[in-house]
Amino acid sequence: MLTPALLALTAILTLCTANPNPRDGRAMAVHESVVAIPSGFAHGGSVPSTTEITLRIALTQSDIAGLQAKTYAVSDPSNAIYGQYLTPDEVANYIKPTTETLSAVFQWLSENNINATSVSSAGDVLQISLPISKADKLLAAQFTSFTHMQSGKTSINTLSYSVPASLQPHINYVHPTVAFVPPLRNAPRVTAVKHKRKSTIQGRASDAVPAGCASQVNPSCIQSMYGFPGAKANNSHSNVLGIAGYSNEYANSADLQLFLRTFQPDSVGTNFTVVEIDGGQNDQALANSGIEAVLDVEMAVGLAKGVPVTFISVGSDNEDGVDGFIDIVNSIMAMPAATRPTVLTTSYGFNEPDLPVSLAYAMCNSYMQLGAAGISVIFASGDGGVGGIQSTECTSFVPTAPGACPFNGLPPQSAASLSGGGFSNYFVTPGYQWDDVTAYIASIGDEYSGLYYSNGRGFPDIALQAENLWLVNGTSCASPIFASMIALINDRLIAAGRPVLGFLNPFLYSTAGRAAFTDIASGTNPGCNTNGFSARPGWDPVTGLGTPNVNLLLSALGL
Ligand SMILES: *[C@@H]1O[C@H](CO)[C@@H](O)[C@H](O)[C@H]1NC(C)=O
Ligand SMILES: *[C@@H]1O[C@H](CO)[C@@H](O)[C@H](O)[C@H]1NC(C)=O
Ligand SMILES: *[C@@H]1O[C@H](CO)[C@@H](O)[C@H](O)[C@H]1NC(C)=O
Ligand SMILES: *[C@@H]1O[C@H](CO)[C@@H](O)[C@H](O)[C@H]1NC(C)=O
Repeated sequence: MLTPALLALTAILTLCTANPNPRDGRAMAVHESVVAIPSGFAHGGSVPSTTEITLRIALTQSDIAGLQAKTYAVSDPSNAIYGQYLTPDEVANYIKPTTETLSAVFQWLSENNINATSVSSAGDVLQISLPISKADKLLAAQFTSFTHMQSGKTSINTLSYSVPASLQPHINYVHPTVAFVPPLRNAPRVTAVKHKRKSTIQGRASDAVPAGCASQVNPSCIQSMYGFPGAKANNSHSNVLGIAGYSNEYANSADLQLFLRTFQPDSVGTNFTVVEIDGGQNDQALANSGIEAVLDVEMAVGLAKGVPVTFISVGSDNEDGVDGFIDIVNSIMAMPAATRPTVLTTSYGFNEPDLPVSLAYAMCNSYMQLGAAGISVIFASGDGGVGGIQSTECTSFVPTAPGACPFNGLPPQSAASLSGGGFSNYFVTPGYQWDDVTAYIASIGDEYSGLYYSNGRGFPDIALQAENLWLVNGTSCASPIFASMIALINDRLIAAGRPVLGFLNPFLYSTAGRAAFTDIASGTNPGCNTNGFSARPGWDPVTGLGTPNVNLLLSALGL
C-alpha cells in the first residue's frame, strides 16, 4: 500500500534558488531530434514567445531491467515466484530515479529558476511550465506551432532539443518536443448508433437460435461461443475490470440500462464507477457519450457479470494524449488495492511510427509496471490490417502502440480482414513467443521482406469476434470481451485462494495455456497495398494463438 503522502499525484517539489550565479556555459548535447517535419504535418501559424507551454521531463528510472526480470518471473507459471506480484511501493522502488539523478536535474532547473512538479508517485516524471522563449533557451530548441493537416489539430513542437551533456544519462526524454502525434481518432457519436440499436432490438427474436449468431453476434452468442458462465461472479470484491476511456468519450449509464434490458435482463440495475484523471469527466449526457466508451462498458458489464466495472476517463489536459496513456498507469498504481483493477482494457492507440522510440519504450515500461503488480493489460490490435490502427497509406507495415509492447495482450478478431497484426519495429520478439514467431517467419520465407522487422514482437496474441456485433465492427469489440473473460477467471482464482492472472502472455503461450485456444488457419489482414499476412496452423500475426474459451482456460489453470 502507498502511504497517503505518496498517493498525492502532484507533490510540489519546491526548488532551492539559493545559487544566484548559475553556472553558464554547460555543454549541451542534442537529446532527440527528427530530420524533417514528419509527413502529415506542416508549419502552423507563429506563436508568441510568451506563450506558456507545459513539458514533462521523464527521468532515468533506477532499475528498469530489474523490474522487467521480476515481471517475467512473477508472470511465468513455471517460475517459483509465479503470482507473487509486487505492491505499488515495491514497483516504485524499481522506477524511482536515483538521488544522483534527482539532484543533478533539480540543480539544472534551479540554475534556470524553474520550478518542477512531480507527476508520478515514484517521482520519475517532472512537469514544468514556462514561456516558449525560456523553453527554447533551456533546451536549445525552437518550439513553434505545427498543424496535423488531416485533422487541423495544432500542436507546439520542436524538431530538435538538447540537454546539458552531463545530464543525458539522467534524462530519458522531454515531451512534447519531437513527438508529432496525430490525434487519437474519435469514434462516431452514439446518437447515430441509437437507431441501429432499435433495429437490433426488433431483430432479437433470433437470439435463442445459434444460427442467428452468424448474422448478428449479440451477447448471448458471445457467451456461448467462448464458454462464458451464465452465473454471476461470486468474489467480486477486490476484482475490478478497468476500462480506459479516451477521446472525450464517456460511459453512459442510461445506455447501459437499455442494453441490459435488451440483452442481459438479469443484470439490469448494474452500474459502473467512474474515475477521472487529466481532466476526464463523468458526463452522463447521452449526446456526449461515444461509441467506444458505450460499447466497452456494455461488453464488460454484460459479459463479466457480477464483476465491478470502473471506467477511467482520461481527459485531454495533456496536449497530444500521449501522456494520458502513462498517467492512467500512475493513477491505477496509486489506487487502493480494493478498487485497483485486476484487468485493464484499452481500445485506443497510436501507430507505432508516430511515437518516438523513447516514448514508446516509456509507455511499454509503464504497462510493465501494471504486469508486475498483477494487473492484466489488454489492447485492441488495430483495425487497419497490416496498415495500423485504421487503414492508412503506408509503404511498410505499421504496427500499433502501445499495444505491440510485449507486456500487453492483444486480441483482434477471428481472421477478419481488418485485424491489425504484424511485428513491432521497436520491440524485439519476447522469449514467450520466440518459437512461434520464428516458425511463422520461416513459413513465409522472403515474402514481404523489408516491409516488417522480422525480429520484432509479433502481434496479436489471440483472436476474438470483432465483426457483426450489435454496435460496430472492430478489434475494439475483441478487447473488452477478452478482458471480461479474464475478470471472470480472476474471480474463480480469488475464490480458490489463488493469485489473479496478471501479465498474461507467459501463461497464454505456455503449453497448458495454448491448449485453451482454437487455432484459426485461414484469413489475411490486407493493408499497405498488400494482402497482408496469412493465418496458418499455429501462431500467426493475424489471429495469434487463436480463439480462447473460458472453460478451457479454467481447465488449463486446474480450476
Ligand atoms: C517556485 O515556487 C515557489 C513556491 O511555490 C514560488 O515562491 C516561486 O515564485 C516559484 N518560482 C518560479 C520561478 O516560478
Ligand atoms: C458462483 O458460485 C456458485 C455456487 O458455488 C456456482 O454455481 C457459480 O458457478 C459461481 N459463479 C461463477 C461465475 O463461477
Ligand atoms: C451510474 O454511475 C454513474 C457514474 O458514477 C453515475 O453518474 C450515474 O448516476 C449512475 N446511474 C445510476 C442509475 O445510478
Ligand atoms: C461489419 O462487417 C460485416 C462483415 O464484413 C459487414 O457486413 C457489416 O456491414 C459491418 N457493419 C458495420 C456496422 O460496419
